[in-house]
Amino acid sequence: MDYRIGVIRGDGIGPEIVNEAVKVLDAVSSVYGFGLDYTDIDMGGCSIDKHGIPLTDEAIEAARASDAVLMGSIGGDAKTSPWYRLEPSKRPEAGLLAIRKALNLFANLRPSRLYKELKAACPLSEATAAKGFDIMMVRELTGGLYFGERYTKESDGVKTAVDTLSYSENEIRRAAVKAFEIAKKRDRKVTLVDKANVLDSSRLWRSVTSEVASDYPEVAFDTMLVDNCAMQLVKDPAQFDVILTENMFGDILSDEAAMITGSIGMLPSASLNDTKFGLYEPSGGSAPDIAGQNIANPIATILSAAMMLRFSLDQDKAADAIEQAVERTLSDGIRTGDIMSEGCEKVSTSGMGDAIVQRI
Ligand code: IPM
Ligand code: MG
Repeated sequence: MDYRIGVIRGDGIGPEIVNEAVKVLDAVSSVYGFGLDYTDIDMGGCSIDKHGIPLTDEAIEAARASDAVLMGSIGGDAKTSPWYRLEPSKRPEAGLLAIRKALNLFANLRPSRLYKELKAACPLSEATAAKGFDIMMVRELTGGLYFGERYTKESDGVKTAVDTLSYSENEIRRAAVKAFEIAKKRDRKVTLVDKANVLDSSRLWRSVTSEVASDYPEVAFDTMLVDNCAMQLVKDPAQFDVILTENMFGDILSDEAAMITGSIGMLPSASLNDTKFGLYEPSGGSAPDIAGQNIANPIATILSAAMMLRFSLDQDKAADAIEQAVERTLSDGIRTGDIMSEGCEKVSTSGMGDAIVQRI
């Protein structure tokens, strides 16, 4: 069996971390007897430099023709990079938003768990870290504020900027169904995070998600206001199993959920539509400040590759093998700088990739 994998190396640390994930994928595919055919796809700043825009139609077609896409990261330093002198719709991030929309990737899965080996890196209190946590954030990814109508107008010399937050019940329902399906295979608890004390859209999220919940009597369902959730994530993250939330709340809370694990360099993500196809990327950004130095942590990208094997290619054993190799690498005390602690061996980006490959 051969699979077609689109590869978006992207900007900043993207190419380095993707190299390591490809190295690990090649190792597991040869052990588990399947083939991977890679096609490079341009997106983000490198696409602007080559084609003048962050995402071309050809790039979308190449992604569509793949079984799955593995991505590094896109974007540069907003203060210094010429990409940010372009109008917003032509900047690197617009490419990411456009590919999500074009491929209908409405469900973004961002798992956040505390590895026991990394408890020392956890910024929470020792007692909280000792309890551990394992959260799956399901972020709606193609609706809400990031895709609503927006404009800036000026009247009588006063500028007003408008962004609109809208959700249809269908958009909510399909995201909710994903969250409950995932919860069924985990600890069977969904927490819907919203701002239903203020927003109409949040009230619709509550009523539609409650309806979906009634189809899953085996899954516990709860709601929480987003400001409280921001607090609860640092106070008692162990209370959560699956968090379901709309696009912007998910953007913010998923960075918080990532950081409490000790490093955003550990967190993979999957963006899925209604088919087997998915786009897999680390939760962290392009980190232009450390790009090209071979010091970035490639684990989030390697774990994203494992998610790709599981969700898009049905290669569960190969996915398990990667995840176990990552855990063994950590328990053998091998660390990149971001998760370094006393008594461990500090390795480079490629050193980490090699260490994981050795443990496949
Ligand atoms: C993310 C990123 C993107 C988002 C940006 C780059 C548009 O922050 O994947 O979380 O907000 O979705
Ligand atoms: Mg984000």
